[in-house]
Amino acid sequence: MAEQKIILSETKDGILYLTISRESKLNALNFNTLEELKNIFNEVNDNKSIRGVIITGAGEKAFVAGADITEIAELNELNARKFAEFGQEVFEIIESCHKPVIAVVNGYALGGGCELAIACHMRIATTNAKFGQPEVNLGIIPGYGGTQRLTHLIGRTKATEILMTGDMLDVNEAKSLGLLNHVEATKEEAIAKAEEILKKIMSKAPLSIGMIVDCVNAVYASDENGYQIEANSFARCVKSEDYREGTNAFLEKRKPNFKGE
Ligand code: COA
Repeated sequence: MAEQKIILSETKDGILYLTISRESKLNALNFNTLEELKNIFNEVNDNKSIRGVIITGAGEKAFVAGADITEIAELNELNARKFAEFGQEVFEIIESCHKPVIAVVNGYALGGGCELAIACHMRIATTNAKFGQPEVNLGIIPGYGGTQRLTHLIGRTKATEILMTGDMLDVNEAKSLGLLNHVEATKEEAIAKAEEILKKIMSKAPLSIGMIVDCVNAVYASDENGYQIEANSFARCVKSEDYREGTNAFLEKRKPNFKGE
């Protein structure tokens, strides 16, 4: 990995651990952080030794408390559009990643932090987590895909309320709305849960996992025919060595040994 300044990264047993580390600013996302995220995820896709990603925020208080308001306060109409489009581009790269990406949400996930969490494939929260899109308090709206992804995830009724009121949700509300996969008492336990899920996924054929990402994302892409993408992806799997290995292993009553080929 190239040298990173704000995002700490460490790879262990096939899992890339990313920690957004601006604790004194509650890990608010500035432009440099977004650029680092983009560079990291572009590399993740091509790096065979990384089989899953966990993203969390430094400290106990915040996952990410939003885009950096000091940068937002300087925008004009032209660069505001670029600001939003760049954030959308980065979060789309994360959402499309062919390796599973889990957000471990410790504390505040507000604004761009909530948008980052919902761009990940799964979310495991600690009991002190709080979710919200408070942009209306600043005279703006979410710009990193939040109006779209939140509505897709939890439905128009509650998403509209959350986006219009700027209210924060606690973990119980977030879980009951389908925003969370799991809730754990502490950050350590949330990371352990994420590792347990990733290890299970890592025992499957890597190509299948990437194809599932594409097919699930196609559900939300208005210009895609998800059923066609599913059929194409299914056919793509059948061309792989792992397909031979998986089906042979079943017939030979043994465990498959997938190689990602
Ligand atoms: N951008 C830039 N700085 C931020 C930030 C953000 N989104 N969120 C928090 N910070 C900074 C604060 O300015 C403060 O910095 P300082 O110590 O230099 O003054 C530091 O992080 C700690 O935050 P503070 O507000 O003192 O903590 P708190 O416990 O009183 O409140 C929050 C926590 C999350 C409720 C509050 O920080 C907040 O409302 N943040 C903004 C959330 C938001 O609107 N996000 C969407 C942005 S689009």
